[in-house]
Amino acid sequence: MSISLIGKSISESATLKLNETAAILRAKGEPVIHLGGGEPKSKPPIDALVAAAALLNSGEVRYTPADGIPALKQAIIRYTDEFYHRRVEPEHVIASGGAKQSIMVCLQAILNPQDEVIFPVPYWVSYPEMVKLCGAVPVPVRAEDGSFHPRMQDIEQNVTSYTKAVIINSPNNPSGIMYSEQFIAEIVEFCEKRGLYLIMDDIYHRLVFDGRKPLSCYDYAKDLSENSKLVVINGVSKQYAMTGFRIGWAVANKRLTEVMTNIQGHQTSGPSALLQHAAVAAINGVQSSVESLRMTLENNRNILMSKLGAFDGIKTYKPDGTFYCFADFSYYEKDSTKLSQFLLDKVRVVTVPGVEFGLDGFLRISTCGAIKDITEGVERMKWALDPNAPNELYIGDRKLVRDWM
Ligand SMILES: Cc1ncc(COP(=O)(O)O)c(C=O)c1O
Repeated sequence: MSISLIGKSISESATLKLNETAAILRAKGEPVIHLGGGEPKSKPPIDALVAAAALLNSGEVRYTPADGIPALKQAIIRYTDEFYHRRVEPEHVIASGGAKQSIMVCLQAILNPQDEVIFPVPYWVSYPEMVKLCGAVPVPVRAEDGSFHPRMQDIEQNVTSYTKAVIINSPNNPSGIMYSEQFIAEIVEFCEKRGLYLIMDDIYHRLVFDGRKPLSCYDYAKDLSENSKLVVINGVSKQYAMTGFRIGWAVANKRLTEVMTNIQGHQTSGPSALLQHAAVAAINGVQSSVESLRMTLENNRNILMSKLGAFDGIKTYKPDGTFYCFADFSYYEKDSTKLSQFLLDKVRVVTVPGVEFGLDGFLRISTCGAIKDITEGVERMKWALDPNAPNELYIGDRKLVRDWM
């Protein structure tokens, strides 16, 4: 069969595939614990559900403008004012089918074939594939000191005449690390000086712990004119537990927003009217669910860290935010795909292999689930990997007997 070169170069989304595998096993009655997920289990805000239901009842569910309904753009403008201290206009805003689409149309709007896009390791699984979809070249950059925090010198060393953009995701999926204010200030200044686009993927910015506050990249920008190449990405998926609603957005200069809108207009048109109305209600409505999700995640992070702390051989890095912890399991197995499959096969625990985020030997463990799942999931993993663990483990009334060490 004749498949395009770009089509052939794109790999399956590892995280979506794992969700599918877990669902199939669960449907067969297997006692799966899903520590691979990237979505909160809490309900979306009631305001969002009521708004979507009201529009559905009215039957007035029509096409919307390609860049989103005016009410959603106004809500995003208010949000940008509140969290970024920046007053933008409707022409600076595009709402898309998830932050994923906002990032994709942004890359399509700025990249030519062979252009390079830099992002720190570990990175969100989709960045390399999105860049490749544009015929461009992903340039993952690993901090030379081996930490999860990028350093300016490592980024600078990877800039070439082909570099078009840098993507920064903080707090970061998968490490949970929030980059320092100094680094954000430096990268904003660096990209401004070098004329590079800086795409700030802020999808987890309110889900931060230990008293941290969301940062605004605009606070460090010198050029806030229409020449600014700063692009801020955000959305409702994570903070409002509205993953399935598929609403995200970008804030960028007017010309770039116009081009992104043209692309989106031919790709999918505007996102669903129902879901845009739900997003407006979530953004403008009572915000207590965000704080309660944030507190739950912080508590879950603490429980996960204490469970992992009692796990010999692994190295952990305390997440500053998000739903994830990225732990080094290379003592047990350097091939993270093999290790993740082993844990699924033997003890029915889903984790995401670190290699998907650019670091083999690591596993991403999610804190979205119930505390019981986190504690039991780590117990099962420990049992499977620790040669000194007892020979048997009970999952409910099912007896597992170790036959591999
Ligand atoms: C870092 C990062 N950016 C963007 C997204 C996409 O979010 P959305 O559901 O709004 O498309 C995700 C989702 O997992 C993510 O982790």
